[in-house]
Amino acid sequence: MELTSVKQRFGIIGNAAALNHALSTAVQVAPTDITVLITGESGVGKEVFSKILHQLSRRKHGRFIAVNCGAIPEGTIDSELFGHEKGSFTGAFEARQGYFETVNGGTIFLDELAEMPLGTQARLLRVLESGEFIKVGSSKVQKTDVRVITATNVDLLEQIRKGRFREDLYYRLCTVAIQIPALRERPGDIPLLFRRFAVDFAERYSSQPVQLDAEAQEILAGYRWPGNIRQLKNVAEQMSVLAPCQLIQGDEVRRYLPAESAARSLPVALGLPVGSEDMSERDILYKVLFDMKKDINELKQVVARLMQSAAESGVEMPNRTAFDLSSEWARPETPVGSTETDVLQGSAEILSHPMQRRVVFEDQQAVEDIEENFSLEEVERRMIDKALRKHSGKRKYAAQELGISERTLYRKIKEYGMDEG
Ligand SMILES: Nc1ncnc2c1ncn2[C@@H]1O[C@H](COP(=O)(O)OP(=O)(O)OP(=O)(O)O)[C@@H](O)[C@H]1O
Ligand SMILES: [Mg+2]
Repeated sequence: MELTSVKQRFGIIGNAAALNHALSTAVQVAPTDITVLITGESGVGKEVFSKILHQLSRRKHGRFIAVNCGAIPEGTIDSELFGHEKGSFTGAFEARQGYFETVNGGTIFLDELAEMPLGTQARLLRVLESGEFIKVGSSKVQKTDVRVITATNVDLLEQIRKGRFREDLYYRLCTVAIQIPALRERPGDIPLLFRRFAVDFAERYSSQPVQLDAEAQEILAGYRWPGNIRQLKNVAEQMSVLAPCQLIQGDEVRRYLPAESAARSLPVALGLPVGSEDMSERDILYKVLFDMKKDINELKQVVARLMQSAAESGVEMPNRTAFDLSSEWARPETPVGSTETDVLQGSAEILSHPMQRRVVFEDQQAVEDIEENFSLEEVERRMIDKALRKHSGKRKYAAQELGISERTLYRKIKEYGMDEG
């Protein structure tokens, strides 16, 4: 089949050699039942490719289901994929069919494969090798005819070294590997994609498509695009809605390109390895600590301002639950960030005025509230809440923003009871 017509049919934009190579491999293996491993960064089009593989196969009239292994809690993934018998675990009131049963004759796309627990990997290997599986809590072997397509954006060989991914499964899966290039590796495709998206959004918002001047184009071509095509699409949409005029210029374009999130850039800045689950936990901890530090400094400024205005107006402050700032709040600390030094010194200076050494809260509760809010858990909970709200409850994007895996986010949501309203 002609690549051009495949591109047209599936809305694939781009002419880079690496993209064409990935696409022609997909077209070639689609009609077979071979298991395919799709690799590539977030947002490069792995799911789009999995659908192409299904649509161009003899299974196209069968079901296609995409399963995100990172989003399903470890305790239920076996049951989701392979089903369970009634009473096989607490809460299993009914027997349930898994995807390998319901999608019989179709295709299952297993996304974020590296997140699959080892036990599930063993079950997957069996079904790939023999078409056999056993429901959780059952002893009966069942047969199924499902084509499996997998995708990951992490290095599975690294996961194998860490004992988190089965080597035999890896070799079973990588018979055919399709590597989708990152957007930054094919800058020539950026203007093409941008134009397409600009036209699409103009249609959606009944406006004229936004255009880029030469400098703006250059900036987009040189950007890192950590979120790849998905991010470019978002940027194009934002510009289509927010840009004051149709021609976007260099300076303006920068406003739509976010600086990398603190959680992602911190470990690198500190020279620590990135990519592991432990690291992700550490990521969030760093972010929490830095945020706390910022909160504390903001609070110090507020207190300082409060005291200054009190002193200026010459108000005699009542002595109820007075709080001595010289001891707790004005204690010099070793500053972490560069800007904090100034804030710290600035407030310490103000605080050293004898008239300003006491601040009065309405009652003791206020003091306790503030202290309580500094607990790591609370700050973490608040950050998760903020990220979830920002991404309208979409855990995938909230997790990305926080720099943790979806599973970690899921666990924390449960842990903090944040899923009950
Ligand atoms: N070559 C392409 N041309 C045009 N649009 C594309 C192309 N590839 C991907 N897209 C679009 O980019 C977005 C992201 O694609 P997709 O969801 O397949 O990425 P992904 O690799 O699965 O991402 P993630 O790793 O985050 O799951 C989708 O809106 C998709 O339609
Ligand atoms: Mg995907």
